[in-house]
Amino acid sequence: MNRQEAFELVRSRLGEGPTLNHCLACEACMRALAFRFGEDPEPFGLAGLVHDLDLDETQNDPERHALVAAQVLQNRGVAHDVVQAVLGHNGKAQRITLMAKALWVVDPTTGFITAAALVRTSRSTIDLEVPSIKKRMKDKRFAAAVSRERMVACQEELGLCLDDFLGLCLGAMNEIRSEIGL
Ligand SMILES: [Fe+2]
Repeated sequence: MNRQEAFELVRSRLGEGPTLNHCLACEACMRALAFRFGEDPEPFGLAGLVHDLDLDETQNDPERHALVAAQVLQNRGVAHDVVQAVLGHNGKAQRITLMAKALWVVDPTTGFITAAALVRTSRSTIDLEVPSIKKRMKDKRFAAAVSRERMVACQEELGLCLDDFLGLCLGAMNEIRSEIGL
């Protein structure tokens, strides 16, 4: 599945809105991480782009989230490691590959960075900086649903300190800010 096909698939299932923007943000961060690690950015980006494609249809049945997506992707002949990464982001497969581990930490982080951007006067990543994201992380009431534990797992899962990881994700999201409403 090429990038255009993946984008059309995700848009056809999620429409245009916050979830599609979240998928695009994850794609950008996954590609940036792949570059950082000298990995192929295509499968990394693909995993980020498609990981939540079943979110609308499984919203009342969260246990099926990622399982439905994996089936759709498998039927389309998407590579095994990409499907495993998608399953792994909802705990439906062990996260063995760097891609799966990266998706695990990128997923909450894009949500958190979006929330941190939207409370700014600019409502954008354009003037958002890492220290301000870290400060928000310490406020338990801010974006309370986002797991800090999964964000700080960048150290253990990817060997990146939080500053590096947040900087990389922020930079990747900022590059596509106009596409993702930031
Ligand atoms: Fe997600």
